[in-house]
Amino acid sequence: MHKQKSEEDRYVFTAEWYDPNAALQRRYQLLYYPKDGSVEMYDLKNHRVFLRRTKYDTLRKEDFYVGNKINVFSRQLHLVDYGDQYTGRKVGSKKENTLAMIKPDAVPKMGSIIEAIIESGFTITRAKMVLLSRAEAMDFYSEHQSKSFFSDLINFMTSGPIVAMEVIGDDAVSTWRKLLGPTNCSVARSESPKSIRARFGTDGTKNAAHGSDSIASAARELEFFFPSSGGHGPKNTAKFTQCTCCIIKPHAVSEGLTGKIINHILDADFEISALQMFTMEKANAEEFYEVYKGVVAEYTEMVVELCSGPCLALEIQGTDVPKSFREFCGPADPEIARHLRPRTLRAQFGKNKMKNAVHCTDLPEDAALELPQLWYEWAYP
Ligand code: RTP
Ligand code: MG
Repeated sequence: MHKQKSEEDRYVFTAEWYDPNAALQRRYQLLYYPKDGSVEMYDLKNHRVFLRRTKYDTLRKEDFYVGNKINVFSRQLHLVDYGDQYTGRKVGSKKENTLAMIKPDAVPKMGSIIEAIIESGFTITRAKMVLLSRAEAMDFYSEHQSKSFFSDLINFMTSGPIVAMEVIGDDAVSTWRKLLGPTNCSVARSESPKSIRARFGTDGTKNAAHGSDSIASAARELEFFFPSSGGHGPKNTAKFTQCTCCIIKPHAVSEGLTGKIINHILDADFEISALQMFTMEKANAEEFYEVYKGVVAEYTEMVVELCSGPCLALEIQGTDVPKSFREFCGPADPEIARHLRPRTLRAQFGKNKMKNAVHCTDLPEDAALELPQLWYEWAYP
């Protein structure tokens, strides 16, 4: 009996949860059993069971790695360490994170680049659109300051917005560099025609995307865009005027639909003027959906979905937004959308009323409220 139990495959992590009531960071030992998808938690400080082993269907095996945030019964848990050597070996041995950045020439093609990233097995864990100042670009590329191409590079990198992303995967640093292809796009087109630079790049300078060249560079570059303590890094490009708000919901992000949805949005001639990935806390999701409380029957489940994992917030510009964008998203219920408006986003990517792929702003006056709320209050958990 005992033996059987000890042989069952299970992962052990140290997880942290910020308890807003006590204003305390609480630490747990979290066990995950891949066989039946159940979790179990111990409170490390008080030495007692916090959550008895319980099946929790929305968690997937792929969600369990150090650095990720997962949602268990509306608590956002940060997996900060492996709890034993077995878990570290099994889950963490080859997982790396790196900085993937879409450069100004390829921002209009970001949907396809994000698709390629996801299809290659990476998980995007952080993302934001920024416009680098000259000082920021020079700092980021300081290793090249003595090179002849430096001023061209800085002019190019500050010529328009870029999209910085943290991607996680097996051997992420070298796998992403391989997917990028050779620095020069014409070389890429002859030597590695399926690479990102071959497909989306322009020339020797305007080459679509960047990837950190070592684990040490990845750490420095991720810190540059997504500082772990103090400051927010380069500011995102949100404009807040003549625009509307779209959130690609957690279920759609975890199903790998982000790139496809962005492609549809851009193909329909909307412009994405800002972008930021984050995981919403329950209290913020409740506040965000406040207007639906007591009005829409699914309010509670909508809140649960919105904070169930990372979402991607987009600021959208285009003719006659928010009305035109709302029509493009389609009826809130994907079943109805599939009957009445089969080409809309929700008809194509939604599952049900809660998991309906995207949130979009309802009323013109709400856009001005929703956007700053997202960027400034919630984007930096
Ligand atoms: P990156 O750092 O952007 O991922 O590119 P990389 O490692 O493949 O190339 P690197 O040598 O680090 O150069 C950084 C960026 O500078 C521009 N460059 N222009 N005209 C030129 O000869 C030249 N050489 C480099 C490119 O944008 C290159 O990605
Ligand atoms: Mg480089």
